[in-house]
Amino acid sequence: MAEHMRIMLPGPTPCPDEVLRALSRPMINHRGPEFVKIVNACTEGVKWLYQTKNDLLTLTTSGTGAMESAVVNVLSPGDKVLALVSGEFGKRFAAIARAYGADVDALEVPYGEPVTPEIVASKLDEGTRYAAVLLTHNETSTALLNPIAAIARVIRERLPDTLILVDAVSGMGTAPLPADELDLDVVVAGAQKAFMLPPGLAFASVSPRAWEAYQHAKMPRFYFDYGKARDFLAKGQTPWTPAISLFFGLEVAVRLLREEGLDGIFKRHERLMRMVRAGARGLGLKLVVSEERYASRAVTGIYAPEGMDPAVLRKTLQARFGYVVAGGQGPLTSTIFRVGHLGYYDEADMLGLIAALEATLVSLGEDVTPGAGVAAAQAELMPTKAMAW
Ligand SMILES: Cc1ncc(COP(=O)(O)O)c(C=O)c1O
Repeated sequence: MAEHMRIMLPGPTPCPDEVLRALSRPMINHRGPEFVKIVNACTEGVKWLYQTKNDLLTLTTSGTGAMESAVVNVLSPGDKVLALVSGEFGKRFAAIARAYGADVDALEVPYGEPVTPEIVASKLDEGTRYAAVLLTHNETSTALLNPIAAIARVIRERLPDTLILVDAVSGMGTAPLPADELDLDVVVAGAQKAFMLPPGLAFASVSPRAWEAYQHAKMPRFYFDYGKARDFLAKGQTPWTPAISLFFGLEVAVRLLREEGLDGIFKRHERLMRMVRAGARGLGLKLVVSEERYASRAVTGIYAPEGMDPAVLRKTLQARFGYVVAGGQGPLTSTIFRVGHLGYYDEADMLGLIAALEATLVSLGEDVTPGAGVAAAQAELMPTKAMAW
């Protein structure tokens, strides 16, 4: 039985030692000057990752809370909303808007396929004036990266004043999502993903267009009131008692991210994604998302071999090697497993996972060529694939 647990989930993700040490600092006064400095450093750091000059609010909540905050702060009951749905999290965004009384049209694509700008264009060309469009950047349930820049462009060309609300809970920090350049109104992200923190903090960027909508929005709000958060942020505080320890960790995490640089962060995630995809293919396994341009940089969805229960595969992998990978969600539950590679991971983590997966498949009676998965993953590391070490 493996005792060393190696989580490879699409959140929560591992935390660097330096972050873990920061989390154990003694409490301070969240209304005192020391905390003000931390809030300001964290806010600047997260804005850097978001590539935004808009207001950036840090909420003590999970990603779903931040999604709810986006809806309730800018919309009113009865507002027409278009939800672009490519998986379970897209459905959740639509469900939140419905729960607060929005009139939601859901545009759903088959699981594993992206929302394309063409589909969005033809939907918008039907002529409905939507108050907001809800998008998922990285659809974690199907391990899919939506072409968000192209989608945002199509929306803006047709509906210049419509709010674009983006669930980037798992995508922020894995693939470029320049909030200002794409003219996105509210973009939410979660700490337990590429931010390398434990769960408990979430972020929301708020554009001038979103603040204008906030003035007239009638959905009920209290804890998540952006206006209160903005007023307190001006003093370097939060309206309610925040998860102080997580702010300690976030200050360190954003420093580490800045040291790596945006380009380094995005290239690393892309490389790890390529390694896992190549490794899985080398083992003869089928990927949920076939086209690389739509492959999530955060998580890879892989079909278990024909006739094998992915739950058995995951259980065996964990029992023997300690690797904890995620199951499928919704209609993919009984067929796929998902390997997280967002946040604090490197190439050696991926090589280890692929090697362990290979041994697990062999132990479950699969006919795989020994070393084929690792060789394929390793090849992604080489300057040219033909070159040997
Ligand atoms: C794309 C996406 N949206 C929303 C969520 C929900 O976040 P949380 O579980 O932190 O509420 C997740 C969590 O995995 C996610 O991946």
